[in-house]
Amino acid sequence: MPNTQKEREITKKGNPSHPRGAEGLQMLTRMNQSHVEVTNWGLSHLAIKHPKRLLDIGCGGGATLARLLDKYPKAQVLGVDASSLSVKTSKGYNKDSIYKGKISVLKASVEKLPFDDNQMDGIVTVESFYFWPNPVENLKEVFRVLKTGGQFLIIADIYDNGQLSKEALENIAEFQLHNPTKEQFFDYFQQAGFSYFTFHTKAETSWACVEGWKA
Ligand SMILES: C[S@@+](CC[C@H](N)C(=O)[O-])C[C@H]1O[C@@H](n2cnc3c(N)ncnc32)[C@H](O)[C@@H]1O
Repeated sequence: MPNTQKEREITKKGNPSHPRGAEGLQMLTRMNQSHVEVTNWGLSHLAIKHPKRLLDIGCGGGATLARLLDKYPKAQVLGVDASSLSVKTSKGYNKDSIYKGKISVLKASVEKLPFDDNQMDGIVTVESFYFWPNPVENLKEVFRVLKTGGQFLIIADIYDNGQLSKEALENIAEFQLHNPTKEQFFDYFQQAGFSYFTFHTKAETSWACVEGWKA
């Protein structure tokens, strides 16, 4: 979330739901830095052993792709994003790993992922779920490409805990964020087919990490 008035102006012009233009690039570059802590905390819940293929949906500026490869150097890491600018920025950020064939980035929406069924050992999405157009249908699409036994994480620096700050509520209104409660997340996961899910929070923050497994 943008913190200062200047960041908010850049974010508004850059459009976090579909980054574009010079301000979009500035915003993605800032997010690669400002999402480090929440992303590292969220990824600490990634518990799959020896994954072959991992996917980051809404990969933005590309820092999470690099972090996934650091954590699992033997895995193939894939990123998708609906914004051409995000795809280009993620590719630039990870150019060496792309050259080595360890990371690939594709332009695609979560609505129609360009993968066959049962392909990914792990799927993550960081600060992107707020913008997904149809949460239950989009989670069904995530579930489709996840392998049986695979793990999915939604990582977000806010969720509706009934105690969000005025600034957070302003950001939700300004950027039209979809911001479910814990109970709504569970309902979505259940409707999408996940048979095991759990909800992680971190004391003194509004962070959420929603974890689902495909049985
Ligand atoms: C706030 S940015 C977060 C980027 C990155 N994950 C991070 O943590 O810095 C949200 C990203 O989600 C992407 N996004 C929004 N809707 C999407 C959709 N339907 N399918 C795929 N990506 C989407 C946006 O294009 C944008 O790059």
